[in-house]
Amino acid sequence: MAKMWAGRFSKEIDETVNAFNSSITFDARMYKNDIEGSIAHARMLGDCNIISKEDSKKIIDGLKEILADIENGTLEFDMTAEDIHMFIEAELTNRLGDVGKRLHTARSRNDQVAVDIRLYLREQIAEIIGLLKELIEILCRLAKENVETVMPGYTHLQRAQPITFAHHLMAYAQMFLRDIDRLEDAGKRMNYCPLGSGALAGTTYPINRQQIAEDLGFAAPMVNSLDGVSDRDFCVELACAISLIMTHLSRFSEEIILWCSWEFKFIELDDAYATGSSIMPQKKNPDITELIRGKTGRVTGDLVTLLSMLKGLPLAYNKDMQEDKEAIFDAVDTVMLCIKTFTPMLATMRVNKENMRNAAAKGFINATDCADYLVKKGMPFRDAYKITGRLVAYCIENGLTLETLPIKEYKKMSELFADDIYDAINLETCVNQRTSEGGPSPVSVINQIEYTENRLK
Ligand code: ARG
Repeated sequence: MAKMWAGRFSKEIDETVNAFNSSITFDARMYKNDIEGSIAHARMLGDCNIISKEDSKKIIDGLKEILADIENGTLEFDMTAEDIHMFIEAELTNRLGDVGKRLHTARSRNDQVAVDIRLYLREQIAEIIGLLKELIEILCRLAKENVETVMPGYTHLQRAQPITFAHHLMAYAQMFLRDIDRLEDAGKRMNYCPLGSGALAGTTYPINRQQIAEDLGFAAPMVNSLDGVSDRDFCVELACAISLIMTHLSRFSEEIILWCSWEFKFIELDDAYATGSSIMPQKKNPDITELIRGKTGRVTGDLVTLLSMLKGLPLAYNKDMQEDKEAIFDAVDTVMLCIKTFTPMLATMRVNKENMRNAAAKGFINATDCADYLVKKGMPFRDAYKITGRLVAYCIENGLTLETLPIKEYKKMSELFADDIYDAINLETCVNQRTSEGGPSPVSVINQIEYTENRLK
């Protein structure tokens, strides 16, 4: 394809350089946004009498036809074009002749690409938020089914205190709610219009930036034309928000991997969401979650790519910035793919309540409650802590648990112990009494579920 900028040059571009320089293979996906931006620009040019109303209308109709032709498959992208912007403008000129050549009046590809990426990412943000909402809905549903499912809560991956499966799930729901906040926040800051910045120094034409901004649904035009074409902070912010979503998914995935191991067996994945081994007939592997954990590193890499790409760039546009797209698009694609797979996997897994309950009964996770029992009878916490520690050591030596330790052994350590100790250290009691706000008791968790569902509305 002949270059628009051919005038200054005496030779055609080297083929390898052309391929190296070109971005159409990865920016073609913004075709709709590019056309949307060009339509708003052409309308403004006509309204401000920078081009005739008639030409403006022809350009807008021509662009709409190009859009339709791309979408119905009659127009294919020319992969030797420099980028999607050049491709569409050249196609318009093919169709309209001189009229098409007027579109780029008072505009540069620098403000054009800056607006296209924003329009594109704005749509993607809405889609990711939708996917996260579905995920949180599933978490709420599962939580409702497991408000009384006692399981061990861990610190250092050592059994710590009793919680419920619902409590555990609601922790992730809060993380994903914050992820939605972060996406919305990045979306808000991104939603200012760079069009009209020109190459970097605005333009001498009497353009109306307010009009284009409104037309394209932006909050306002960007304040400074150099800034309008120079920064990709909005890509960095989004990549950061996405990296955090991935990090949350990755931790959750790690737990699911543990939970479906034979050592835990807290859950079983549906057959449609697991894979087998080529040699070991007994295997059922949680590949999805491992891939999510793996892909998290890749998305972190996308964030680092963007930050490193920007850090040394003088204002305004530099070609380095073309590298923004593959990184942010990869982050967006990957997170969507991961949530789309993770949510139905979660929705279809089987929860093994009995194994969770059994695991909770084995690790002295009611030791804190035993100490609290003495405290409630008047003993200072530090003394109660020490006595309970000795009781635990005694149980371990003698193959007992706090539930099976005879009352006379308790009494040897402290006269404050009475028969009601067994009720106090009963796991259900331990959970039910943790009624503090945010805690694992059924009442507390039901409140968390209600709060979460309200936030989704
Ligand atoms: N394909 C380019 C990019 O993605 C578009 C902007 C080109 N501007 C320029 N002055 N070469 O960054």
